[in-house]
Amino acid sequence: MKNKILVTGGAGYIGSHTCIALHEAGYDIVVYDNLSNSSYEAINRVSTLIGQPIEFIEGDIRDAESLKKVFAAHHFFGVIHFAGLKAVGESVAKPLMYYNNNVSGTITLLEVMSEYDVKNFVFSSSATVYGDPESLPINEESPRSCTNPYGQSKLAVEYILEDLAVSDESWNLISLRYFNPVGAHSSGRIGEDPNDIPNNLMPYISQVAIGKIEQLSIFGNDYPTVDGTGVRDFIHVTDLAQGHVAALNYLEQQTSPEKSCLDTVSTKQTSSKSSSVGFLPINLGTGKGTSVLELISAFSDVSGQSIPYQFAARRAGDIASCYASADKATLLLGWEAKLPITDMCQDTWRWQSMNPNGYDAS
Ligand code: NAD
Ligand code: WQD
Repeated sequence: MKNKILVTGGAGYIGSHTCIALHEAGYDIVVYDNLSNSSYEAINRVSTLIGQPIEFIEGDIRDAESLKKVFAAHHFFGVIHFAGLKAVGESVAKPLMYYNNNVSGTITLLEVMSEYDVKNFVFSSSATVYGDPESLPINEESPRSCTNPYGQSKLAVEYILEDLAVSDESWNLISLRYFNPVGAHSSGRIGEDPNDIPNNLMPYISQVAIGKIEQLSIFGNDYPTVDGTGVRDFIHVTDLAQGHVAALNYLEQQTSPEKSCLDTVSTKQTSSKSSSVGFLPINLGTGKGTSVLELISAFSDVSGQSIPYQFAARRAGDIASCYASADKATLLLGWEAKLPITDMCQDTWRWQSMNPNGYDAS
């Protein structure tokens, strides 16, 4: 029988792409989202792409009663928890909103999971938890620190998950630390649809390319990098989505009775319990750094559009370089990112040009 997964925030950018990957991998999915930063049209389009309706519940992760109804109605193997607010600048202006949504919301979700004895959890964490890294590439043992409420909310949830794993070994908690997700589904039907002016580089570039924004400001050209501009580990959202499938497969293997039987034989232990994953942080990145200027050049090449830009002052809180060691994901999950920067740009451009106003026009 297919395992059923609750996908919180499944109408959003990464969640919608992951729904497709989960379906293709044979999982049953139920999406729970309050649509605070997404459109129901994304769910419609995912349903069309997979050729069957998606079970969607409009609800808030802070609403325990609503969550309980969902858990009472379904038998879930686990939860992938995308739901959260993600704008760094907004989090500085509205810290309580961010802590309430991202931290309190996650606690409520975990409490309801516990009540219904659903203990397999995949959390959307971020490379932001590494702050300004001491060394590169960044591995999972690197020190964690954050300077803004958004990052603090991700870090706070990681600490909560660590404590939870210590308190009760029946929890299996994977924290996927995404680097810089970009790109869109190759169909051009779903993609990132930021409200107002984008905060992040790739959607900004694509809106300049289509003429919605006049020019890009490059925040700093005096960093100690290949060309003075910031360097990031951009990862295609389709690869990222596959990383979630790999994480779920890992949880299934680790928690299956067959696996624990094999473990028992090989380690000569007497316990017949499934092995516990505990708290497991895993980077999802490509391991390669690309500068802002390199990304602009690649986008311009694949789209055939010029991307006017000017150099501006560094953005407060930015770091020079950030890229992952993705070795742990390969070793434990058998996952690695496959799609190059050209695909990231090509797919972003296809989505942008097919949907100049995002989901709004629908
Ligand atoms: P997104 O805003 O597109 O998706 C988040 C979804 O969660 C939205 O559909 C939103 O409506 C929903 N949501 C928010 N608060 C909710 C609540 N209280 N109850 C129910 N639903 C709620 O963002 P995304 O880019 O898809 O990011 C998904 C997750 O990954 C977030 O937790 C984000 O912090 C994390 N993340 C994103 C990035 C990135 O650059 N996109 C990087 C690292 C981590
Ligand atoms: C990348 C580079 C900018 C916009 C953020 C969050 C992080 C994570 C991913 C959620 C930097 C430069 C950008 C522009 C520019 N999100 N830039 N002009 O800052 O690495 O990470 O998104 O977890 O938490 O902080 O991504 O795309 O904003 O910036 O020059 O208009 O592009 O200075 O060097 P960032 P980004």
